[in-house]
Amino acid sequence: MKHYLTVDDIASLPDWVDEAINLKKDPYQFEDLGKRKTICLLFFNNSLRTRLSTQKAAMSLGMEVMIMNFGNEGWALEYGDGTVMDQGTSEHIKEAAQVVSQYSDIVAIRAFAGLKDKEKDEAEEVINGFSKYASIPVVNMESSVGHPLQALADAITLKENKAKKRSKVVLSWAPHPKALPHAVANSFIQMMKKQDADFVITHPKGYELNPEITKGCTIEYNQDEALKGADFVYVKNWSSYSDYGKVLSTDKNWTITKEKLGNAKFMHCLPVRRNMIVDDAVLDSGQSLVVEQAKNRVFSAQIVLKKILEDI
Ligand code: CP
Repeated sequence: MKHYLTVDDIASLPDWVDEAINLKKDPYQFEDLGKRKTICLLFFNNSLRTRLSTQKAAMSLGMEVMIMNFGNEGWALEYGDGTVMDQGTSEHIKEAAQVVSQYSDIVAIRAFAGLKDKEKDEAEEVINGFSKYASIPVVNMESSVGHPLQALADAITLKENKAKKRSKVVLSWAPHPKALPHAVANSFIQMMKKQDADFVITHPKGYELNPEITKGCTIEYNQDEALKGADFVYVKNWSSYSDYGKVLSTDKNWTITKEKLGNAKFMHCLPVRRNMIVDDAVLDSGQSLVVEQAKNRVFSAQIVLKKILEDI
């Protein structure tokens, strides 16, 4: 595998999930694969899980890890072709990507959506700029429109916790005071489309996601109706897609309570706002899978890095 940019780079979701579960039993079984290889993790935005889990995954494969908080410490990058760089940007992506390629064997990048300009966000200039100009494989650690490492970890968690052949999985919007990107929800949907499951998306009107991504999915605007009979409830806030980047509602009737959850398992990518997205009583109960999901971030990253290392 050259790059891991979207969920569609997963050759076979069931096979990768099984391989990841196997890796989890003995994380050091491929510790020589990454010997004398270096991964560079570039962060244009904050992180806890992605940073530590990707670093841990790389170390378990024997890799050296370099981390840079590019957003604070790097030069402001220019992405435009032919731009006269007489304004705020100091270095072009063409040089930056090629230079990073001299120091490492894989580069992983986190660069969130700005949520001001849909066209610009969907152009994915950071991650696409690196994959265009770097001479090494590129891994998406959450870009403007996708978070495929999270979605793969979620697929592992679903497999480990499923109690029946065909589960009902609900993706529910929940309120949040700030405008959040669509990346986690997008990749979760793309991953669910590869699963044999009864999958329902629920959100208030106005929070429809990119129709190209939700095409073919069941959308139910009544959250109580959507949650009926759910085995897994994956909760996430996102801002409006049609009224791009706007917070249209903070209606706490959408907050997930114990009562709403019923007997289902609760999932969230974290970080989560307690008593806004979900009640304490849910997060502090045995029905919450959020820490398992975070643990599985190590093994989703490890399987991705293993596939890339095998092809270098
Ligand atoms: N879920 C996730 O990507 O967490 P971080 O933003 O802390 O990396």
